[in-house]
Amino acid sequence: METHVVDHPLAAALLTTMRDARSSNPAFRAALRELTHMLIYEAIRDAEIEEFEVATPVAPARGVRLANPPLLVPVLRAGLGMVEQASSLIPQSQVGFVGMARDETTHEPVPYLESLPEDLSGIPVYVLDPMLATGGSMVRTIELLVERGATDVTAVCVVAAPQGVAALADSGLPIRLVVAAVDAGLNEDAYIVPGLGDAGDRQFGPR
Ligand code: URA
Repeated sequence: METHVVDHPLAAALLTTMRDARSSNPAFRAALRELTHMLIYEAIRDAEIEEFEVATPVAPARGVRLANPPLLVPVLRAGLGMVEQASSLIPQSQVGFVGMARDETTHEPVPYLESLPEDLSGIPVYVLDPMLATGGSMVRTIELLVERGATDVTAVCVVAAPQGVAALADSGLPIRLVVAAVDAGLNEDAYIVPGLGDAGDRQFGPR
């Protein structure tokens, strides 16, 4: 699996704000928005473009646009803080939604919301979820996308644990990962260490 760690001083500074337990909810959300900008910018770097001609005030010029704008899929609830920035950067993109809950007996992720186009064949999909911890929710989300015909899926995350990266790689699914940092590991509650805490709570307050 292709993993791209966005190693940039501005991204690292924004991630520091997100990690800092003293950052307020608004400061955390603002840093997530800015960091999403950089992650999407990197994620789309090799996207296919098509050319067309535009006229400048002076002469004809070669113009370009995305040949195949992606579907953006924030995973509720933490992914919501990434979608506005991603869609303003790629205004032609469409947006779907996935909600995942955890079955308390099996501990398996169970989708409670799938608001997605029926047919995703030929459409690049960017899954937005700040935290890739065990990878269970991300793998289940990508399975839902692949069931609809997706063959080109990018997970756009802020922090990953090595266990989550391994889960994606081992899934055999058509997936690429773009992430700002891969941290040391997981604690006994499956929080990423050092991580940044609960990305949903830190944006929206505790449930
Ligand atoms: N989800 C979070 O919000 N934080 C973690 O550390 C792991 C999963």
